[in-house]
Amino acid sequence: MKLTEKIHYVGVNDRDKVRFEGLWPLTQGMAYNSYIVKGEKTALIDTVDNRYFPLFISKIKNVIGNGKIDYLVINHMEPDHSGSLGLLRSLYPDIRLVGNKKTLQMAEGFYLQSGETLTVAEGSELDLGGPRLKFFLTPMVHWPETMMTYELESQTLFSGDAFGCYGALNGGVTDEEIDIEPYFPEMIRYYANIVGKYGAQVQMAMKKLSETNIERICSTHGPVWTNAISRVLDIYNRLSLYEGETGACLIYGTMYGNTTAMAESVAEGLVSGGMKHFVMHKLGRTDESYLLADVFRYKGLLLGAPTYNNGIYPLMERLLTDMEHRSLKNRLVGVFGSFSWASQAVKRLQDFASLPGMKLVGQPVEMKQGFSKEIAEQCRELGRQMAQQLSAEDGEA
Ligand SMILES: Cc1cc2nc3c(=O)[nH]c(=O)nc-3n(C[C@H](O)[C@H](O)[C@H](O)COP(=O)(O)O)c2cc1C
Ligand SMILES: [Fe+2]
Ligand SMILES: [Fe+2]
Repeated sequence: MKLTEKIHYVGVNDRDKVRFEGLWPLTQGMAYNSYIVKGEKTALIDTVDNRYFPLFISKIKNVIGNGKIDYLVINHMEPDHSGSLGLLRSLYPDIRLVGNKKTLQMAEGFYLQSGETLTVAEGSELDLGGPRLKFFLTPMVHWPETMMTYELESQTLFSGDAFGCYGALNGGVTDEEIDIEPYFPEMIRYYANIVGKYGAQVQMAMKKLSETNIERICSTHGPVWTNAISRVLDIYNRLSLYEGETGACLIYGTMYGNTTAMAESVAEGLVSGGMKHFVMHKLGRTDESYLLADVFRYKGLLLGAPTYNNGIYPLMERLLTDMEHRSLKNRLVGVFGSFSWASQAVKRLQDFASLPGMKLVGQPVEMKQGFSKEIAEQCRELGRQMAQQLSAEDGEA
């Protein structure tokens, strides 16, 4: 698969793995993208998960035949891209690993590599005889050694995980040849799951790239972006600034349905307050990976849970912790919860809502034992308040 005269796609699809990183469901599979840049010298950019090594090698051979690979550029050491490094080196013993100091230390640590290496730093260039590679260090997007590689002749950015998404590539690779719409929700989910903690570092990387003209983004996951570059950059910019859309995500947990009744009333309040743009999830029913995606997507966040063993319902605790780990901010938060003898849930939710960058909306609603008209009205009022606050902030924007 040729992207330009000198750049070839040699990535593979994973339609087997159930959960990426053992955590995040891969309902549409995953692509591990790898590229060959061919000048007088040949460079391979990143590798693939080692379970796909035989297919990967056959794709490489289709491009270079029995020729040699001079360089292997490693943008990022996570094993979904570095996994084939050891096997590749056993087939191509003279290949020179190209990475920054941290990358090469990790390569040695993971794969006991001892062969030829080339250490690059910020702004270093590597002339392939025709194509020229330039390196940008983009630490913590999302590993410490992460860098991006820019090919100057074709203005192609090999961006590593950045600008990537879940989803295998079905019969085509570039955004010009396939329907890209299904990939955008998966880009938000990928970002929220994998990169979400590193908004500030993504911003730094984007600033670093802002002076560079980019014709093509070749990320390690998902389509190659050409036509949709500005849309993709815009999504990453918004997500890394933690800028939510006007709308709300209501997530609640329940064992016996008491908290569900509260959630339904909050939802009624949202709608009667004029907010149609919202989604509702029950913990344990929707995988957390999708919850995080909606949390990153919408500005309004409504959370409800029962008290459980003197703490909060465990699935809500996990969600709260995961949102805290991702330094979620710029959110309007409304909370509600239930208990029977000594309340803890609402306290925990209020602690979350008082974190920096969070704004508590309305009055927290706390229900002891059964549902009542009064509680229903308090919940509806919470929903209405959220709807009003969202519209007010939308008006200001
Ligand atoms: C396993 C379990 C543990 C509970 N622990 C507490 C608790 O520590 N403190 C409390 O006030 N209520 C506790 N409750 C009571 C629930 O918080 C209360 O019944 C609530 O209404 C349940 O909401 P739900 O119907 O939405 O599941 C517990 C209930 C269960 C089933
Ligand atoms: Fe990664
Ligand atoms: Fe990756």
